[in-house]
Amino acid sequence: EPTLRVFPDAGALAHAAADLICAEVRAKPEAVLLVATGNTPMPTYAELARRAAAGEADFGRVTAVQLDEYVGVPEDDPRSLWGWMERAFVRPLGITRTVRLSDPATFDAELRALGGIDLAVLGLGPNGHLGFNEPPSNPGAPTRRVTLTPASLESNRAYWGDLPVPQDALTAGMPVILGARRALLLVSGEHKREILRRTLTEPPTPEVPASFLQRTPLTVLADAAAAP
Ligand code: GLP
Repeated sequence: EPTLRVFPDAGALAHAAADLICAEVRAKPEAVLLVATGNTPMPTYAELARRAAAGEADFGRVTAVQLDEYVGVPEDDPRSLWGWMERAFVRPLGITRTVRLSDPATFDAELRALGGIDLAVLGLGPNGHLGFNEPPSNPGAPTRRVTLTPASLESNRAYWGDLPVPQDALTAGMPVILGARRALLLVSGEHKREILRRTLTEPPTPEVPASFLQRTPLTVLADAAAAP
């Protein structure tokens, strides 16, 4: 049964998310974290970076796992999601252990060897996607290459200014995400309210891949604008 917590604004949400992530890492310093990019978690990552710099949190033994990546985008391209994750999360938190997503079979094998994901930090696609598990995705959809839907091409356009959005991507599979021992879904903004409502209240359906999180140990952190 998911827990929904609503905050007055994105700043309060980020603070609470950082508290939960830090608590996980205090309890298990070698925690394996699955890490979303996108706009929503950026204030949370900035707060984590502040705490790491202040010596209030130590991510030195954490493993950061990449959630998704475009195909055909080199890592020094401004659109590289690995590059984004490195700048916003890995480097500022002082993380040295990472699992990158470049080959699905290698990725899954690395995760198995690590014992799976302890905490998934997720955003919600405006079309209900998780990572790049686009609708329709069933709970068994593996780590794989996908072609982005028009909705995701459109929402991702906001990230890259004049550069075209790559058409294809790799995503961690649904079992990787749904198998996390704990998941945080960060949702902010009025434009996410309807899809969050569907995610939490509709019977789980491949048409809203995030709805399968209903069956997992999920905490949803939403700001007031996104709260259903
Ligand atoms: C993107 C990414 C996801 C992200 C989601 C929400 O397309 N593939 O990893 O969580 O969509 O993004 P945002 O937080 O910018 O709304």
